[in-house]
Amino acid sequence: MATARAHTNIALIKYWGKRDQDLILPQTDSLSLTLDEFYTTTTVDFDDRLAADQVTIDGTVLDQQAARKVHHVLDLVRQQSGLTSPAWVTSTNHVPMAAGLASSASAFAALAGAASRAAGLDLDRRALSRLARRGSGSATRSIYGGLVEWRRGHDDATSYAQPIMEKVDFGIEMMAVMINTAKKKVSSRYGMQQSVTTSPYYQVWPAIVDYDMAAIKKAIDNRDVNAIGRIAEQNALRMHALTLSADPGFTYFTGETITAMNAIRALRDQGIPCYFTMDAGPNVKVIYDRQNRQPIHQALAAQFGADRLVVAKPGPGIQIWNN
Ligand code: PMV
Repeated sequence: MATARAHTNIALIKYWGKRDQDLILPQTDSLSLTLDEFYTTTTVDFDDRLAADQVTIDGTVLDQQAARKVHHVLDLVRQQSGLTSPAWVTSTNHVPMAAGLASSASAFAALAGAASRAAGLDLDRRALSRLARRGSGSATRSIYGGLVEWRRGHDDATSYAQPIMEKVDFGIEMMAVMINTAKKKVSSRYGMQQSVTTSPYYQVWPAIVDYDMAAIKKAIDNRDVNAIGRIAEQNALRMHALTLSADPGFTYFTGETITAMNAIRALRDQGIPCYFTMDAGPNVKVIYDRQNRQPIHQALAAQFGADRLVVAKPGPGIQIWNN
């Protein structure tokens, strides 16, 4: 039996599009910040008395269909270890409120860590990153803390994450604005595939990401939070343009997403540097230097309510232990 804890991450340069659906090889590199406030703790126990894998998330037993991706990762662990037994999987998401916030990244990273250790495999972090990738692309990056890049690679062995700065030594923070915590209507898997196959703009996306990756790495080297925010905001808007320009077009934004984006632009116009990013859902994450936290928090609390704001700092990489 083993337990792992992994923190979620939010991409500053987005992964949006697969090159290989089964291996989850991305079209491009991506880069993220692991957050301290949101994490998943998962325990795995292989037990040959079980008839099938038993998956419980936040106290609810998943049916076979809902647990499909979990079975897939467990099957990969069984293949690698030679074990054949089903497993008990018990997972708890630690979030400050019932938030729909990138839980698949922390969930599949924690599952990869706990399942591989419980099966007696001693995987290094690169191998863990590759295994987490098979559950959910963004989980690839949640093996490491701080600023992390996922190199797209060209096959299973070469597509993994690596740390850029595990211990972040400057003031970058992210404030989550919880617009809506319900489950998303368009899965990221479907949304990506629609964008890749039907948006006429998709063909320029890989070049945009290459350019943004180089620029943001330079900004990270310079510890320049405002440059990081500027690049991340533009990259996020260009990612979301791929959904709007798909056929049929769709969006993850709600009216309140746009309201929050405008509130952040208004703060900027008042001379308070802050930037936004959004993923496959309506919630907005604000990127800023901690010295500007107070006025940003005050302005957004007045508009959205303080109970819908969560301040997150850079978080740590995966921890795994035997029970
Ligand atoms: O890991 P997935 O399949 O849920 O995809 C994540 C996609 C984004 O969150 C929108 C971008 C990213 O790089 O995390």
